[in-house]
Amino acid sequence: MSPNIDNNTLRERLNLSISLLKERVSALLLLYDQPDLHKGIIRTLDSVVFRERNMKWCHLFLTGLWLATANSSYNYYRLPSALRPLKYDLRILTQLENPEDFRFGGTAKILIKALENTNNITLHSKDLTIDESHITLRQIGGEEKKDNCVISTVVNPTHDFYILNTCQELLAGHVYELNLPFSAKLNDQLEGYYRSSYFDSAANETRWISITHFEPASARLAFPCFDEPGYKAPFVITLGYHKKFTGLSNMPVKETKPHESIPDYLWTEFQESLPISTYLVAYSVNDFSHKPSTLPNGALFRTWARPNAIDQCDYASEFGPKVLKYYEELFGIKFPLPKVDQFAVPDFNIGAMENWGLVTYRETALLYSNEFSSLKDKQELSNTVAHELAHQWFGNLVTMKWWTDLWLKEGVATYVATLCVEYIHPEWRSMELESLSNLLAIFRKDSLESSHPISRPIEMVSQISESFDEISYEKGSSVLRMMHLFLGEESFRTGLKSYLERYAYKNAEQDNLWESLTQAAHKTGSLPKDYDIKTIMDSWTLQTGYPLVNVTRDYTTKTAKLSQDRYLLNTDKSRAGNGCWWVPLSYTTQEKKDFNNTAPKAWMECSKTGESQTKTIHDLPGPDQWVIFNNLLSSPYKVNYDAQNWKLLIETLNSEQFQSIPVINRAQLIDDVLYFGWTGEQDYEIALRLINYLHRERELLPWKSAFENLKLLNRIVRQTPNFQFFRSYVKQLITPIYEHVKGINDTFSSIQQQDQILLKSMVVDWACQYQVADCVPQALAYYHNWRSEANPDGKNPVPINVRNTVYCTLIRLGSDEEWEFLWTRYKNSNVAAEKRTILTALGCSREVWLLQRYLELIFDPKEEIRKQDSKWAFQAVAKTEIGFLLAKKYFMDNVEFINNFYHQLTRSLTRLLEPLEKQVFNRKDYNEFKEFVINSKRSFKGSEEAIQRTLEVMLTNVQWKERNYDQFTRAIKPLL
Ligand code: BES
Ligand code: ZN
Repeated sequence: MSPNIDNNTLRERLNLSISLLKERVSALLLLYDQPDLHKGIIRTLDSVVFRERNMKWCHLFLTGLWLATANSSYNYYRLPSALRPLKYDLRILTQLENPEDFRFGGTAKILIKALENTNNITLHSKDLTIDESHITLRQIGGEEKKDNCVISTVVNPTHDFYILNTCQELLAGHVYELNLPFSAKLNDQLEGYYRSSYFDSAANETRWISITHFEPASARLAFPCFDEPGYKAPFVITLGYHKKFTGLSNMPVKETKPHESIPDYLWTEFQESLPISTYLVAYSVNDFSHKPSTLPNGALFRTWARPNAIDQCDYASEFGPKVLKYYEELFGIKFPLPKVDQFAVPDFNIGAMENWGLVTYRETALLYSNEFSSLKDKQELSNTVAHELAHQWFGNLVTMKWWTDLWLKEGVATYVATLCVEYIHPEWRSMELESLSNLLAIFRKDSLESSHPISRPIEMVSQISESFDEISYEKGSSVLRMMHLFLGEESFRTGLKSYLERYAYKNAEQDNLWESLTQAAHKTGSLPKDYDIKTIMDSWTLQTGYPLVNVTRDYTTKTAKLSQDRYLLNTDKSRAGNGCWWVPLSYTTQEKKDFNNTAPKAWMECSKTGESQTKTIHDLPGPDQWVIFNNLLSSPYKVNYDAQNWKLLIETLNSEQFQSIPVINRAQLIDDVLYFGWTGEQDYEIALRLINYLHRERELLPWKSAFENLKLLNRIVRQTPNFQFFRSYVKQLITPIYEHVKGINDTFSSIQQQDQILLKSMVVDWACQYQVADCVPQALAYYHNWRSEANPDGKNPVPINVRNTVYCTLIRLGSDEEWEFLWTRYKNSNVAAEKRTILTALGCSREVWLLQRYLELIFDPKEEIRKQDSKWAFQAVAKTEIGFLLAKKYFMDNVEFINNFYHQLTRSLTRLLEPLEKQVFNRKDYNEFKEFVINSKRSFKGSEEAIQRTLEVMLTNVQWKERNYDQFTRAIKPLL
């Protein structure tokens, strides 16, 4: 090593040595099955990168180590960086005619550029049969044109690598063409290239289609490829299929011609795509119908569904193009593709997927029926379409470098979708509701130690899958909203636009977004010149959790002292010194009430080493006026006040003036004080005194906030001897609002303010559960009318927006007769939203045998419930007090079977655990579950984070029971 080598070069080399060494270490230790040792060494190596002292010695040492391990096979989790794909040419023939043998096969021709000399081509491939005797490799262009070949191949199942060792070295700067023939079964696992079906009742036949789902790492199940988001390349896709089908892909058809040898088969070639990451590639062979949208001067826009559901496409086909137009204006960048297809897949694991130009949805997320879909269904659908179309820019045009920054697309799409839906449907007032829902979700999840930062290292496919969670979506969206509100409209928009322009067709990481936003903010003056977005936002995206800001007022000096600590639900843990966040401080006083001003009046800052400092606020009012921090709940933090300030707030809320505090801040106060009751910052007396004002409350948001919290208390207390007090308390709390919304009566058509419909649905659901007033008899009366209809599948007199409650009530109080009635409706229904409502209601039974039968039916592939819907059905059973005990037992007895059933499908096991964790609150049950987890380690492989969370939630319930249960009951009794 040259002694006068400069520090930067040295650092670069050092980093390179470290990453090479990491590969070697990975290979060796995983080969010898030493995962713990492996993790430890990798962590040590990661930390080496940041130390500068002794860099030269370090370099020498690492190089030596690397050489010493140089003979093992490649086992680092990322693809080597020696090659990059320039273009893919895919030809795939799909056979859908023979139900005994669904398969596909074809060739992947990949143009590859060598960036470094290398002796192998490492690709991803999983469950594919590659015909090795027909692989070809040749050099393209260049003067010394040489044929190359593959001498051997190695498979690495840990990382799904398929490694082709070449006869001759591939040389840096040269381009090669690799041809790989492959084939596989068209699977039924909802990932990769898979089959889906629907029943054609006219022909009395099951029909089959094929469809792809690749995100995050399943393109490798469909064709050999460089399956990482950073390897963008144009795709030319050609599909072969029987002429009775239609072929769809990301791009429009270029040409169709007959297959050269198979009779009645066609080859359809699609236009070459723009550079695209593999997870965004999509194609399908199907016999669906479509509804075209009429779009003046826009892209061709079509909505696809099975033929007997085509009448449910009207709404999405009108809404979709409006969304596209909105984003074109918001981002100032035209939609770059010539067409969009939105496609409703009967079997689809998640909600929807943003494949560029061919967006796929589960039916509930795209199809809308006037007669069967509720307002909530319609809003969810709109939100999903807006989310996926937002990805056409955030995600597809600009893609994250690596899954670490998944939130850069998921958080942004979630946030801008709320802007979009608010713009197109202002009458829904969904922006406020979405913002609150997102915050409520993260206040819960991110108060757990088992949570994680928004942006975080990813080393395994299972970690990628686990990242599609509330932190990437809801927290991502909430911190963007915070930024939008503290920067203001202009900087925010300009920043986003310049980021998109700068990184279009490329990859980016969060620092790139921060940079664009800082520049925009400095230009417009919305951020002080000595502040930058990166410093502020890193504190929110690189740290787990959110702060609790403690406000202690001095009423004589009219000041307040503010300090911050991480808010944790687990009260055994110390909070002090646990992180520091750059908190934008907006606040207002009882006199000013300028809640709409969300520009920060001050900041809580962090030192360079990440310590928080106490902040003093001046010019506050005297002891007769409250202050509220965090106007419009613009940032994700909780606020605790001194006793006097709480007293003032409680007085105002419980007076005629309660509406002088905006709804979202009323929701904030409810959520904060109930959390503080739970974790001990405040007594339950205070909390209950505050929420007592709900007798007056007529708006959705505060009720939403209250119900979310009461639900958790309910799930514990209903299993205890003191439930009667809680029940009476809830009953008297909700009676006034139940009467105000006119109970369960069908008043929906006369409701002017749309969010009152959601409020009414929510209140009615609680009212029937708690048997308030006439709720139950009225619900049953609706049912009896329905039952006596000559054709109950065609005519349903139950008002759409209370069907979930009516169905649940009749199943809860009825017998197997009601169960069978509803199950028959399920089987006959043609509308996915209605099917979902019924599946959920079927779990409301209290008959042990019915529930047990239902549990078994849910996971029976021969039965009527699609795999994608099984989690809804299971959750429905597990949510109720009797169902919980059965579901928990079923889960524990069958965990291995359930795990195989889902085959590692994203979020499946996680969703089953959610209702279970909320209802365990005894130390004995907790210990039993913990032991079960330890004994079933293998089944939880890939769901480690979910299981950590489950145990932590159970533990916090145990703490609540041990510490608060008596106090809570004592606080409730005098209110009855
Ligand atoms: N990119 C995701 C799809 C996805 C989710 C792929 C999980 C792999 C794992 C898509 O944009 C998405 O976020 N879908 C959401 C719906 C959306 C409205 C929040 C989903 O499927 O839940
Ligand atoms: Zn998304």
